[in-house]
Amino acid sequence: MFLELRGVTKRFGGLTAVDHIDLDIEDGEFICFLGPSGCGKTTLLRLIAGLESLDEGAIRLRGSDLGQLPARKRNFGVVFQSYSLFPSMTVARNVAYGLVCRKWPRARIEPRVAALLDLVHLRGDAGKYPHELSGGMQQRVALARALAPEPEVLLLDEPLSALDAKVRESLRGEIRDLQKRLGITTVMVTHDQDEAMEMADRILVMNRGRIEQVGLAQDLYWRPTTRFVGEFIGRLNVLERERWQALLPELGGDPGRLFGIRPEHVRLVGAGEPSNGPVGEGTVRKVAFLGNMTRLILEAGPGVVEIEVHGPLRGAEVGERLRFTLPGEHLSPMAADPR
Ligand SMILES: Nc1ncnc2c1ncn2[C@@H]1O[C@H](COP(=O)(O)OP(=O)(O)OP(=O)(O)O)[C@@H](O)[C@H]1O
Ligand SMILES: [Mg+2]
Repeated sequence: MFLELRGVTKRFGGLTAVDHIDLDIEDGEFICFLGPSGCGKTTLLRLIAGLESLDEGAIRLRGSDLGQLPARKRNFGVVFQSYSLFPSMTVARNVAYGLVCRKWPRARIEPRVAALLDLVHLRGDAGKYPHELSGGMQQRVALARALAPEPEVLLLDEPLSALDAKVRESLRGEIRDLQKRLGITTVMVTHDQDEAMEMADRILVMNRGRIEQVGLAQDLYWRPTTRFVGEFIGRLNVLERERWQALLPELGGDPGRLFGIRPEHVRLVGAGEPSNGPVGEGTVRKVAFLGNMTRLILEAGPGVVEIEVHGPLRGAEVGERLRFTLPGEHLSPMAADPR
């Protein structure tokens, strides 16, 4: 395995910020750590970078233990949320910084800096100072600086979160393309689910220092294994077995089990229309037209159901009674929050 985390744990006083994380990262993979504020994403990234020391566990790169290796000897490129460029250095000198530190010969530094500035489309800005650049440009310089020494791993901590929405979106694609082209193993921290889903090969969802679920965006969306993941990624109807069993006999099994279904999977059944399975009925409480879809809030006997329908929905008015089914193939069994 390229990068291995085993039982990785970090405590700050009485708080366990990172709690026994096991993870294998493959060579060339782009993985995102996704989770709410304070769940331990940055701490986990800093542990990998060597900027924090482990309290327990081990981190291995190609089988060799990084335990005692200080950050500067790890050859990992790091980019943080704040641009953290050196304000008194030009763009070119910022990018060259790591190479000078590593005592690269001058003859190699210049072409390397030029190549990196090409890569991030800033060739013409080599002589500028950070304050002369936009936020997005500064983050591209930070990226070029991190990549210049040919790091084995690229570590990004919310690199886009300080940028406005338009720039953020275009940089998402740019970073992803760059990562693919260079084939560099990349770990990115974010609390933005869209960003994670758009950019990453795999997503690790964290909550309170622990892993909730690791998988492809599709796995997390279609088959969330915990309520936390289901609700953190997209919208979700949570069905408690006790309440919904009459309508969904297939919800057998352990008491206290939860099932999730996405709003777009709840099917409306027109009057007189046949359905394969039990049909529920509810009163429309809210209709929201959202352009490409319409969202309905339906109050049914066992509880509230959110339904999303593609495009506009004619004839759905507040107060009206509507019939629906909850197709069994779209129900995900989920663990309630166990902690
Ligand atoms: N140096 C530190 N000393 C004490 N507590 C810390 C330290 N660094 C982090 N923590 C605590 O550890 C927990 C995890 O913090 P961390 O910064 O890793 O979260 P995060 O997921 O990156 O959050 P955010 O999305 O807000 O950046 C938090 O409760 C935080 O207060
Ligand atoms: Mg953080």
